[in-house]
Amino acid sequence: MSELTAKALELAAMTPTDFIFGAATSSWQIEGNSSTRGASIWDDFANAGRIKDGALADPACDHVSLYQTDLDLLSWLNVDAYRFSVSWPRVIPTGSGKASAVGLDFYDKLIDGLLARNIKPSLTIYHWDLPVELEAMGGWTWDGISESFAEYTNILAEKFSDRIDFWSTLNEPWVSAFLGYATAIHAPGRNDAASGFRAAYNLMLAHGKSLQVLREHSVKNAGTVLNLTSIIATSELAAAQEHIDILQNRFWLDLLAGRGVSSVLIENTKHILDWDFVDQAELDCISKPIDWLGINYYTPTRLGMAAPASAAVGQDLALYPGTPQPISFNPLPPTTEMGWEIDASSLLTTLQQTSARLPNTPLYITENGGAFPDHIIDGKVLDFDRVDYFYTHIKTALEAVAQGIDLKGYFAWSLLDNIEWAEGISKKFGIIHNDFSNQKRTPKLSAEFLRELNLGRKR
Ligand code: FCB
Repeated sequence: MSELTAKALELAAMTPTDFIFGAATSSWQIEGNSSTRGASIWDDFANAGRIKDGALADPACDHVSLYQTDLDLLSWLNVDAYRFSVSWPRVIPTGSGKASAVGLDFYDKLIDGLLARNIKPSLTIYHWDLPVELEAMGGWTWDGISESFAEYTNILAEKFSDRIDFWSTLNEPWVSAFLGYATAIHAPGRNDAASGFRAAYNLMLAHGKSLQVLREHSVKNAGTVLNLTSIIATSELAAAQEHIDILQNRFWLDLLAGRGVSSVLIENTKHILDWDFVDQAELDCISKPIDWLGINYYTPTRLGMAAPASAAVGQDLALYPGTPQPISFNPLPPTTEMGWEIDASSLLTTLQQTSARLPNTPLYITENGGAFPDHIIDGKVLDFDRVDYFYTHIKTALEAVAQGIDLKGYFAWSLLDNIEWAEGISKKFGIIHNDFSNQKRTPKLSAEFLRELNLGRKR
């Protein structure tokens, strides 16, 4: 037996029978075919040359044309579930009003294709591709945005409520608000701290209203997805650590758990905004119980005082407005191509912390994986680093289950090499290699590894 198979079977033997393994993608990162939908803020961002390697929405992975191929790859992987997102402007081309029959039909076929292959659909309603017409109204800082989101949710729920196993309202609202509005790292690129906080609140209000619509349609498993992590710092940086922990983790969990906006956050940010928009009835709406919480985990956030030698993508003090002390981000080696420290033990800390902060809520790891340089040898992609990353993180996740954490599933990021947002196509997270010149898909060693794990569990 090869070492790869032995490791896969070791994990398979640790996996509870009802635990779910899956793979994840998002619409803008893979779909392409932008001419058959409305425009999103990511199209504008890409067209303005804001993506590092100049990648554009097309062709991406041309998934709208090739979804049958991708469904077959999911079958080959033997996954239990597939997490994908719906493109808002594909379903409602101008953001509000009439739905597109062509757009809905695409997701209809995708979902039926999953069910025909006995793969549970996990649908994310919003993974960052906001229609440009809504951005023109003010985007996530606009008062009306949560109503538009509820209407969009209603269209999806009417069409798909009986066929989706897991619904997620949002993907990583922290990224939407702070990379897109507080800074200009992501679309729409506003670069205004107060707008970041306003967007953060409106995203959560949109979650609450969307959840209410999902409940009206009695959907199965309604939840949301946050990017949570453990903030590591020495004691002299305790004040910065607390602030960053609030912005990264607690703000979202506090709102979901009904604890409102933290007084420490309000104090630390009083020079930026007065939070007068916070409304008790809205807080009540946001804190209605969810059936599950998704955690996207990649790396810890390690704080230090010295300037780091190389900056990690998305680790920037401007993302945490109001931090009361000057700090730097100091990821320790080994790191991935994103500059992200590889540390599976922080996944365990994150799971423990989250289950304490939002008790009685089943958890899923909805994204985990790494960007590594791929070595293609004789047509094979031998991504040993990625195999190792999956092995150590899945093992940690399963150890967390054994310790009694209510963790019910794990999704690898990502099914395919895709457009890694502002980093473009040069940062590759896929377990399946994609040649963007001809759309040829080649499973990497990490895909073989996850397939062996899935086959081992089902034996
Ligand atoms: C997460 C995003 C996902 C992908 C990974 C690497 O923040 O949700 O789309 O870009 O990072």
